[in-house]
Amino acid sequence: MEVIVLPGPDDVARVAADVVAGVVRRRPGAVLGLATGSSPVGVYAELARRVAAGELDLSGVRGFALDEYVGLPAGHPESYAAVIGRDVTGRLGLDPARVHVPDGRAADLEAAAEDYEQAIAAAGGVDVQLLGIGANGHIGFNEPTSSFGSRTRLKTLAPRTRADNARFFDSPDEVPMHCLTQGLGTILGARRLLLVAQGSAKAEAVAAAVEGPLTSMCPASALQLHPRATVVVDEAAAARL
Ligand code: GLP
Repeated sequence: MEVIVLPGPDDVARVAADVVAGVVRRRPGAVLGLATGSSPVGVYAELARRVAAGELDLSGVRGFALDEYVGLPAGHPESYAAVIGRDVTGRLGLDPARVHVPDGRAADLEAAAEDYEQAIAAAGGVDVQLLGIGANGHIGFNEPTSSFGSRTRLKTLAPRTRADNARFFDSPDEVPMHCLTQGLGTILGARRLLLVAQGSAKAEAVAAAVEGPLTSMCPASALQLHPRATVVVDEAAAARL
């Protein structure tokens, strides 16, 4: 695992954007694994800046989101479909027809999860998977105890994750109980992993992921199994390494 520690969040965004841009330059039709949450926001902003400046063209890439809430009404602004559409597809000039999010409103969620796995496989797999990390070590919505071999499936959100994400909703009760998330096995199938973390609230999770034992209690420790995983963190998030 490559661990890059940088002074601040802007440096994290720049270096992570360099990695994504490098992949797309080599392969304009690259498949990007898209993360939501606040961690990758700076990376998307930096990529959007480069696209606007004509330095980068992302119009040929394909994208797969990591996860989606289950049960939010269509068009809810905090559904990950809406977040990806607003913050990623639109701003980065991606083709909406090539950007996929698990269907958290499907009548048959199990079938939706299987379809998602098949769509990723049909696209030839993910070239670079961008990841944030939850304070409890989750990646995607793979909460502690998630199996390292897991595939896209229905999961129950941990109380800590619901509390952490309550800031995006009008009230904590509005945060869904369930989600569809790519599994750890799905994530490990990407050709390259790129995890970004900023701030002291992530320091413990980053240390557990990078230096702790391989354990399903810290799902992000699964990155230790990947031959090409890069962790880009600022000094605050690196404080416990
Ligand atoms: C969210 C997302 C994850 C994200 C993590 C950290 O709930 N499902 O993909 O990496 O939790 O969130 P944040 O980056 O906002 O701290």
